[in-house]
Amino acid sequence: MKSVLSVVALAGLSEAALRFGCSTLSIQRLDPVVEPGSIPSAHLHQIVGGNAFNASMQPEDGDPAQKATCTTCTFSEDFSNYWTAVMFYKHQNGSYQRVPIMANDALPPGINGGMTIYYTQQDFFSNGNQKITSFPKGFRMTAGKVTATSKYSKGLKFVCLQNKSTRFPELDEFPTQKCNGIMTVHHFPACWDGKNLDSPDHQSHMYNTVNDAFVNSGACPASHPVRVPQVTYETLWDTAQFNNLPWPTDGSQPFVLSYGDDLGFGTHADYMFGWKDDALQRAMDSSCMFNACENGNPLKSQQPAQMNACTVQPTVDENINGWLSALPGMSIDHGDGVSEESEEYRECIMP
Ligand SMILES: *[C@@H]1O[C@H](CO)[C@@H](O)[C@H](O)[C@H]1NC(C)=O
Ligand SMILES: *[C@@H]1O[C@H](CO)[C@@H](O)[C@H](O)[C@H]1NC(C)=O
Ligand SMILES: *[C@@H]1O[C@H](CO)[C@@H](O)[C@H](O)[C@H]1NC(C)=O
Repeated sequence: MKSVLSVVALAGLSEAALRFGCSTLSIQRLDPVVEPGSIPSAHLHQIVGGNAFNASMQPEDGDPAQKATCTTCTFSEDFSNYWTAVMFYKHQNGSYQRVPIMANDALPPGINGGMTIYYTQQDFFSNGNQKITSFPKGFRMTAGKVTATSKYSKGLKFVCLQNKSTRFPELDEFPTQKCNGIMTVHHFPACWDGKNLDSPDHQSHMYNTVNDAFVNSGACPASHPVRVPQVTYETLWDTAQFNNLPWPTDGSQPFVLSYGDDLGFGTHADYMFGWKDDALQRAMDSSCMFNACENGNPLKSQQPAQMNACTVQPTVDENINGWLSALPGMSIDHGDGVSEESEEYRECIMP
């Protein structure tokens, strides 16, 4: 039996969990974490969050929360940036069309595209019993690896949606059947080494204890002792509008991620911390759950119309709409499905 003392001690610990929408900020070829300064980066990304987003964004360039004037996220003190690869439909005739992003129906209506972002403590339902430390200013990390050709880690998932509330089963690769939409899920690691804002592979300063389906799989190791929020992205892709177009007859499926991956093992996501002052720490130290954290309890929040009004103009001038003859940035194809630019990219990201 738990002693009264330990119950009291647990009650003093934080229980907050954030789940909120961020509308689309920009869709363009920039990647300030993996390819800082490259205009354009190797492949197309969809980005949400603060409008300080640009090609470089090094820690010494300053605090995004000071530079940004708006954010596409519900929590108006969150000027972080969140991004993933973009999904395309590949026609049998070789043309590509970008798959639009649709809103999550767990969120208020009216949010334009974007993602659902989570900062949880340990898992979806129970919020753990330890201090959760906010990321420091300048912090960034990635999850997943473009070059992976088999399952890379837990927490990188695809869900074949029957409707927008479908959450299972979670797949490690693209579903091969026709779905009413596909959700991609990216869980980031939640154990930090306590020292480095980044690392050469953007991952070794973190340790992964996440499991599938928002379930945590253990304590942080001594090498990475600081428990930070468990960050997760969900993106809902409106694939249904392509279901009546030509479908491969060899058992494969027609969707591809923007770096040419039609299996999905290279699915990846980037995170750049940008909460104002101590807003994230205050939230993590509170006991609010999801939208109960809004309206100053303890976080300032805004409505979808204000979120949607925040955008950044593309720095990269290229067409990403309609039928395209190649994936943006992937035009030099040697017949192996790997473009010259993506080969350079692979070399530059290999640890
Ligand atoms: C990005 O923003 C920083 C800080 O405002 C600025 O110093 C830098 O020149 C910008 N870089 C690009 C490529 O726009
Ligand atoms: C492929 O099919 C689409 C839809 O019919 C069409 O618009 C596009 O021009 C075609 N591409 C090629 C290369 O024929
Ligand atoms: C949505 O799909 C799930 C199965 O994925 C099903 O259990 C649920 O009843 C469906 N909801 C609606 C509103 O149709």
